[in-house]
Amino acid sequence: MKIGIVCNLKSAGAKNTHTDDFEEEFDSPETMQAIGAVLATKNHQIVYFAESADLPAALIKDRPDFVFNFAEGRGTSRAREARVPALLEILGIPYSGSDPFTLCVGLDKDVAKKIVSDVGVMVPKGATFTPENFDLDSIPINFSFPVVVKPAWEGSSKGIRDSAVAKTHQQLRALLSEVINGYDQPIIVEEYLPGTEITVGLIGNGADLEVIGAMEIAPKIKDEFFIYSLEVKRNYLSRVDYNVPPKIPFEVSSALFSSAVKAFKALGCKDFARIDFRLNAHNQPVFIEANPLPGLNPVTSDFGLIAKGMGWTYEKLILSVFEAATKRLGL
Ligand SMILES: Nc1ncnc2c1ncn2[C@@H]1O[C@H](COP(=O)(O)OP(=O)(O)OP(=O)(O)O)[C@@H](O)[C@H]1O
Ligand SMILES: [Mg+2]
Repeated sequence: MKIGIVCNLKSAGAKNTHTDDFEEEFDSPETMQAIGAVLATKNHQIVYFAESADLPAALIKDRPDFVFNFAEGRGTSRAREARVPALLEILGIPYSGSDPFTLCVGLDKDVAKKIVSDVGVMVPKGATFTPENFDLDSIPINFSFPVVVKPAWEGSSKGIRDSAVAKTHQQLRALLSEVINGYDQPIIVEEYLPGTEITVGLIGNGADLEVIGAMEIAPKIKDEFFIYSLEVKRNYLSRVDYNVPPKIPFEVSSALFSSAVKAFKALGCKDFARIDFRLNAHNQPVFIEANPLPGLNPVTSDFGLIAKGMGWTYEKLILSVFEAATKRLGL
């Protein structure tokens, strides 16, 4: 079959943008080629497409039978990841991964929390501030500190620096005005979850849905208010250890996996997703956010690291996602 691979590659020219993490979610040519190389081993023809305004014409001109989609989308809209799947639906081209609805919800952490909370998964308590009616004096003073301050519609820790934890009302005011000015979108202020951070990888659909594994993100140097910030992700080799499987008791993993499956289904994820959790002070898993389009870099992505830690090759990871999609689509 002719497989199209659609993605956004990082460019060299992101210098004159508002924040230096503007292209943080975008992919490298190595990731694109690694996915293409795996799919090509099964005798498929691979065609690469860039997510751009020229994409509709390119797909019509060189129409693939199926698209392996991992385009993050440009700009700050919470619909940016949904655009390629929406276009593929217009053109009638089947694709891997979640549909436009789930990709929008995955990017809106506030809405995602409401949906997963509705099926009994714990979520952090918090409030969301919108830029339109933002007024520093309207911030309630009764937040239970510490709190995390983060943009509602980002990924790859965009807008979540090492300094994103506020311990006082004064720090909260300063952080909120900084983040609201840097990111043109609502800002979430939520309780800081003090426990172990774990991300869970899932592949499949319906009765075939499987938790492939989970990974603990442990700071190398003890830090009372550790977060997996932009700086940590950029310097992961020196800042964190990745433990697959996580060093947590069996009952905690069972609760975690069951919450991950519930969240995956409630959000309508398809084929694969990575869901981020933290334990609270009572060792209960609390949902932070879902990534229905997780990074797939063969060396550095959390999903790739989970697979590797579970003894999977990169080939097995990509083919499992591809096979989940083709089985679901009856291809
Ligand atoms: N309520 C919270 N309590 C403690 N830490 C938090 C909380 N919310 C976010 N964090 C920290 O900030 C990190 C980034 O947050 P989050 O996962 O929401 O961002 P993201 O940019 O969507 O991440 P990804 O790279 O997975 O797309 C988390 O991995 C976690 O370490
Ligand atoms: Mg995350």
